[in-house]
Amino acid sequence: MIKISNVRKSFQNLEVLKGISLEIEDSEIYGIIGQSGAGKSTLLRCINGLETYDSGTIEINGTTVSAKDKKALKNLQKQMGMIFQGFNLLERLDVYDNIALPMKFWGRKTKSPESQKKILDLIRLVGLEDKVHAKPRELSGGQKQRVAIARALVLDPMFLLCDEATSALDPEITKEILSLLQKINRELGITVIIVTHQMEVVKQICQRVAFLSDGGVLAEGKPEDLFVKPERTEIKTFLREESELLPTEGVNIQLFFSGEGSEEPVVTQMARSLDSDFSICWAKLEDFRENVYGSLVINVKETDKDRVCSFLDDKNVAWEVV
Ligand SMILES: Nc1ncnc2c1ncn2[C@@H]1O[C@H](COP(=O)(O)OP(=O)(O)OP(=O)(O)O)[C@@H](O)[C@H]1O
Ligand SMILES: [Mg+2]
Repeated sequence: MIKISNVRKSFQNLEVLKGISLEIEDSEIYGIIGQSGAGKSTLLRCINGLETYDSGTIEINGTTVSAKDKKALKNLQKQMGMIFQGFNLLERLDVYDNIALPMKFWGRKTKSPESQKKILDLIRLVGLEDKVHAKPRELSGGQKQRVAIARALVLDPMFLLCDEATSALDPEITKEILSLLQKINRELGITVIIVTHQMEVVKQICQRVAFLSDGGVLAEGKPEDLFVKPERTEIKTFLREESELLPTEGVNIQLFFSGEGSEEPVVTQMARSLDSDFSICWAKLEDFRENVYGSLVINVKETDKDRVCSFLDDKNVAWEVV
């Protein structure tokens, strides 16, 4: 488990992390989302010790991340595989040797039968069996990221840290890479931490997410709770939801659907059962890890408001007047 308590970090006069506290559980897929400059990469670099922090603590399974004890830090870093937007592969090495690189760095024999088996198993896991001896320039972006993922796993880490790992890829390839990360999490039990500014990434695979804004954690929780019913204006702005376009006449009611109830035709039932008309002003339906969550804003006459609200209560639909 990763426990981050009240971590602060400044670069010269600029305070970039302003007292961050988070807990990341074993074997979860945890997202860190926020606008550019929010401090996401800095936080990730503090977690893996590439960057020092000024105060607070970061503990990994009870061991504090600190530059003071170099040996302990190196051992922690071995537990953390890392992938980036730019892949960072060595051009002169082929797929196999790029993946073997961390083993070399740690003085392991890369030609031993166990090492060879490990590397070939990883190549199979990431689906690059036919590219074992290809050079990076012969690979697509998605394939390069697969090599980087295999390389990050070669020392059997407990954590996989991903900094904008899919930001340079098109939406289809992004989905494939995210499915691969999901498979790694499921089959190898590795905790995956994903830093991203892409909502789609969080929706598709993260079980929990922290929304970072200006060096602080603005909200934390399940993506469906944070994004279907965002309570903070900053999150709404991030999602670019334009609630000011709603009608000024009548009453605007926002309905929230979650999980199984999403497909039930509550709205048409309500129109029939109350024998009343209303307009649909705004709607969204989104997939979160294969579950559908949605939100809908309807505009009703002032005189219908109470009947509509009690109908929604009867149907167990969450609502609020907006
Ligand atoms: N080494 C550094 N020296 C000085 N300032 C830095 C350094 N690294 C980051 N910063 C500043 O810290 C702030 C947070 O940067 P960080 O890279 O953590 O943001 P981010 O959330 O990852 O943004 P992005 O989505 O653009 O990657 C920015 O204002 C950045 O300019
Ligand atoms: Mg960043």
